[in-house]
Amino acid sequence: MSQAILDFMMEDHHRLDGIFAKMENAKNVAEAKKYFIEFNYGLRRHIVWEEKIFFPIFEKKKGLTRGGPTEAMRADHKEIKKLLEGIHDCVAGESAKEFKKIKKFEEDFRDLISTHNFKEEQMLYGWIDDVLDDKEKKNIFKEVENVSPEEYEKCCE
Ligand SMILES: [Fe+2]
Ligand SMILES: [Fe+2]
Repeated sequence: MSQAILDFMMEDHHRLDGIFAKMENAKNVAEAKKYFIEFNYGLRRHIVWEEKIFFPIFEKKKGLTRGGPTEAMRADHKEIKKLLEGIHDCVAGESAKEFKKIKKFEEDFRDLISTHNFKEEQMLYGWIDDVLDDKEKKNIFKEVENVSPEEYEKCCE
């Protein structure tokens, strides 16, 4: 059985981790903002893929309505978005004073995203791969390509 979704999504986690690390190492607020915009855009796109495409087909195949692993992941996404807003507010105005508050948000974010990604990579993505055949996966990746940027394009301009 191929592991298309696991591989694809794990690679995106790693790509996003790289951008996040650049933001954490930024020397000033303008630099942090530049990486935050890229990170925010990429992570929101990733969450849209999960919540609008991968999770619903898994829930349908498993007959899940309430509870279950996807509901827990959706709850994590809500917390993740709150922290993204917190980081957003630290860089949006490009003020050095606000920028000083970013570290706490970055630490909380890192803790949350590392457990979240671990759960997805170690369990959920593999389960999603298992319930789909190759043809279904092919169709799903077409849907991924067709997601409109309007669904996730939000940033601190
Ligand atoms: Fe997720
Ligand atoms: Fe993910």
